[in-house]
Amino acid sequence: MELKGKTAIVTGSAGGIGQGIACVLAREGANVVVNDLKAQSCEGTVNRILASGGQAMAFEADVTNKAAIQAMVNATVDRFGSVDILVNNAAIEDAPQLAADMSEEQWDRVMGVDIKGVFLCCQAVIPQMTKQKKGRIINIGSIASLRMTIYGSLDYTVAKHGVVGLTNHLAWELADAGITVNTVCPGGVLTPMMINATTPEYRDAVIKRMVPIGRYIEPEEIGEAVSFLASDRAAIITGQSIAADGGLLTGYGEDLRPSIRKRMVDMQVAHLAKHND
Ligand SMILES: NC(=O)c1ccc[n+]([C@@H]2O[C@H](COP(=O)([O-])OP(=O)(O)OC[C@H]3O[C@@H](n4cnc5c(N)ncnc54)[C@H](O)[C@@H]3O)[C@@H](O)[C@H]2O)c1
Repeated sequence: MELKGKTAIVTGSAGGIGQGIACVLAREGANVVVNDLKAQSCEGTVNRILASGGQAMAFEADVTNKAAIQAMVNATVDRFGSVDILVNNAAIEDAPQLAADMSEEQWDRVMGVDIKGVFLCCQAVIPQMTKQKKGRIINIGSIASLRMTIYGSLDYTVAKHGVVGLTNHLAWELADAGITVNTVCPGGVLTPMMINATTPEYRDAVIKRMVPIGRYIEPEEIGEAVSFLASDRAAIITGQSIAADGGLLTGYGEDLRPSIRKRMVDMQVAHLAKHND
């Protein structure tokens, strides 16, 4: 119970990786604010935490809405007295598009949630954490934060690389306030986002052939990495972007190249067909 007495906000934690993170932080004793777009969708995570003897409350807020995020931070302090841990987990991935075909609306939508949302949530907790002289900000990046891994997802790759830049910058800016800032970069976790963004064949190529551990990562396993970074044991770790990918990136670019090339050719053929009509 190394997070006993601490309070965490986990954005986008109605399901998927966010739920796994919220449950592990609660198991370690943290009070957890379960955030997502709809309060009702948070009930599953809140009930799981309450059923295991933890403390949790749901808070509906869109991470792109500055006023709603500020209201969430205020409500957290009112209910639990502090904000010790912020986990910026909420993100979206839009339909795969070549750069030439990507609409400005799609670009803005993905940037809005995946990078501006992270910035707004950080900005909202900084005054409270500074007052406490201590805090932990943990962003959820992706293997796409570190390499070009998902051909056709330029918007997602750019936003997730941006999370690393934000992490590096804020680690310096917030160090004197006692706040550490790190990013955990998951590999393949079988969540709705992963299922929507990839085909079973692509997933098989990545997971079975390319991941040294040879399996999907469980949401709770990402939660374990987050929980460590949130703990006092990680006091000297800041400005880091750590792959939690079962070793995927260590081999990336060699065996997977044919699979990326195939996806690239398929998308370019589709693009030409569309524009030659
Ligand atoms: N699943 C994977 O394999 C994988 C791999 C690498 C990185 N990630 C990252 O992990 C995180 C969680 O992904 P996931 O796979 O669980 O996705 P998911 O789609 O299953 O869950 C994301 C959650 O965020 C919420 N959300 C979306 N927009 C929001 C907004 N504007 N405000 C508040 N909440 C919002 C959604 O409602 C959803 O509950 C994301 O940052 C994602 O980029 C996932």
